[in-house]
Amino acid sequence: MGILDVDLPPWSIDLIYGNTGSGKSYFAGWLVEQAWGRGRRFIVLDTKVKNHLGLVALRGVKLLKIKPGARYDFSRIAKIDQLVVVPTRGTISRLGVKGLVDRYYKPILDELFRRDKDRIIVVEEAHRYNPSSRTPGEELEQLFREGRDARIYMVAITQSIADFPKLLFRQAQRHFIFQHYVPNDIFYLKKMIPGFEEMNARLRRHDLVEFIPPDESRIIKRELVMRRTRHFG
Ligand SMILES: Nc1ncnc2c1ncn2[C@@H]1O[C@H](COP(=O)(O)OP(=O)(O)OP(=O)(O)O)[C@@H](O)[C@H]1O
Ligand SMILES: [Mg+2]
Repeated sequence: MGILDVDLPPWSIDLIYGNTGSGKSYFAGWLVEQAWGRGRRFIVLDTKVKNHLGLVALRGVKLLKIKPGARYDFSRIAKIDQLVVVPTRGTISRLGVKGLVDRYYKPILDELFRRDKDRIIVVEEAHRYNPSSRTPGEELEQLFREGRDARIYMVAITQSIADFPKLLFRQAQRHFIFQHYVPNDIFYLKKMIPGFEEMNARLRRHDLVEFIPPDESRIIKRELVMRRTRHFG
């Protein structure tokens, strides 16, 4: 069994999608571990309390817990080199994921866009940043659009790609696609990705497809995605 040779370019727009429990966050955590191993800067904006907490075991990685009602200096947050941001349980019960995103994560993304862009930005539940499935949220749109020119490296994770704005979908430089079984999603993806239906049928749970538009793709087997830190899925 080989080692996984997923590239970690200087910048990229990566989309990770698949049904719940398919392995999106596990794989995103693996990407972060690779980034850490190369001394790259990153920020993870998590929407769950535990999920990515294991990454904090990596030396130098800082943790920020968003507490309900607390105020934060977003420009200072945006300067931390290797950071995992998570909500507390209280934040989720009081604000919901939507409130967390609107009140805290969107301003952080805005800071990251306006200032220093040289880092990997991992966004969980990226669909929450969009006002509707047709309309991209301002913060995501500017980061996705600037992409290459501004050396932005975005990793956007979502469960429901068919409900993700096409405008953003088209900006992606790479897609990491887990098994899909919702007919509407499969219908959508087979129009966008050559050979998708056939690859999807071959995927086991936690396997994924790496797709590089317009037509480069391969299957990555789950055994190759080996985490060094714990993932709370
Ligand atoms: N390659 C893998 N090998 C072994 N276990 C895996 C692998 N990928 C994921 N898992 C396990 O599958 C479970 C779900 O993974 P994960 O949390 O990444 O799902 P998800 O797609 O992010 O789901 P959600 O949309 O609900 O957030 C976890 O327990 C995780 O440890
Ligand atoms: Mg997840």
